[in-house]
Amino acid sequence: MAWLLTGGAGYIGSHIVEAFRGAGREVVVLDDLSSGFAEFVPDGVVVHEGRVEDPAAVAAALDAQPVDGVVHLAGLKYAGESVHVPLDFYRANVEGTRVLLEAMAAREIDRLVFSSSSATYGTMEGEVVTEDAPQRPESPYGESKLVGEWLIRDQARARPALRHTSLRYFNVVGSGSEHLVDHSPYNLFPLVFRALARGERPKVFGDDYPTPDGTCIRDYVHVSDLAEAHLRAAVLLEEGRELAPAYNVGRGEGVSVRQIVETILRAVGEEALGYDVVPRRGGDPARIVGSARLIERDFGWKPDLDLDAMVDGAWAAWNAPGTAEREARQDAARAARA
Ligand SMILES: NC(=O)c1ccc[n+]([C@@H]2O[C@H](COP(=O)([O-])OP(=O)(O)OC[C@H]3O[C@@H](n4cnc5c(N)ncnc54)[C@H](O)[C@@H]3O)[C@@H](O)[C@H]2O)c1
Repeated sequence: MAWLLTGGAGYIGSHIVEAFRGAGREVVVLDDLSSGFAEFVPDGVVVHEGRVEDPAAVAAALDAQPVDGVVHLAGLKYAGESVHVPLDFYRANVEGTRVLLEAMAAREIDRLVFSSSSATYGTMEGEVVTEDAPQRPESPYGESKLVGEWLIRDQARARPALRHTSLRYFNVVGSGSEHLVDHSPYNLFPLVFRALARGERPKVFGDDYPTPDGTCIRDYVHVSDLAEAHLRAAVLLEEGRELAPAYNVGRGEGVSVRQIVETILRAVGEEALGYDVVPRRGGDPARIVGSARLIERDFGWKPDLDLDAMVDGAWAAWNAPGTAEREARQDAARAARA
């Protein structure tokens, strides 16, 4: 029996493929390769190329071999872009989840781990956000992830055999292998690395936030720790354990953008270069930090890898062969779509 990973050729999905395979599970991938890379998927793992909102593509991936459960990561993820093309986000993230649930029900596949986001909370109140906090997303992206959670909840009410959980990731960074790289056009680490590659000073967007050093505070979690959380979710579902509908996956610690940029510059020996503070970007809340108490209690999961490990792994992967060529391919694909 296999687990289907939708979006398994992406940055996070490919780390989950490795974690599942490392734990002896068979894995198949459904991915349209719009932002993922076939070469991120190891030899021996079948990649079904297709969209998750296409019932025929989902059927092909589910029917090629018996499937035990699904980790659903496929979708669009840039909150800023979602403001301009909300319907694209609803099609991929909401319709995709609906089609997947329908196909799973038809085949009595009853284990689902959903890739949700801290973006479902919106601006938080207090120091750390817990899973029962009000969810008030501030972008079509966050809304589409919240609707995804609702679809799964409602389907499980109608079909109690379906057991599921949604993992609300905070800021995912780092690399667990040198060949798996975050190519996101907007995430902080690749933005800093691209500036360094051009010999430019990295940018910090805004230092007038109501935080101790004036820059935004985020909760960074290593992608390998996140992949391990998915594996534990899968194991618990296989064991028939009852899981909460949603878990935060972060370190429960706030780190400022200034601290991150300074850590990266120090790690790569570019402290003297410094960085430029530029005006705020729209839509960046001052502070997003999650409590990880619930996942620690129910999964026995604790994040292992600290900020230095996140920076060192990400930098090593960024400098490995293949990165520049994939960056160029991604730029060309994004330009063609624009
Ligand atoms: N990276 C983060 O910090 C973060 C934080 C919170 C949540 N998430 C969620 O985690 C998931 C994976 O994110 P990632 O950072 O690995 O991004 P990614 O873009 O690298 O991965 C997404 C994968 O899904 C594929 N895909 C996109 N739309 C598809 C569709 N309609 N049908 C089939 N495949 C499709 C892409 O080709 C890619 O391989 C996403 O759902 C994202 O919203 C990410």
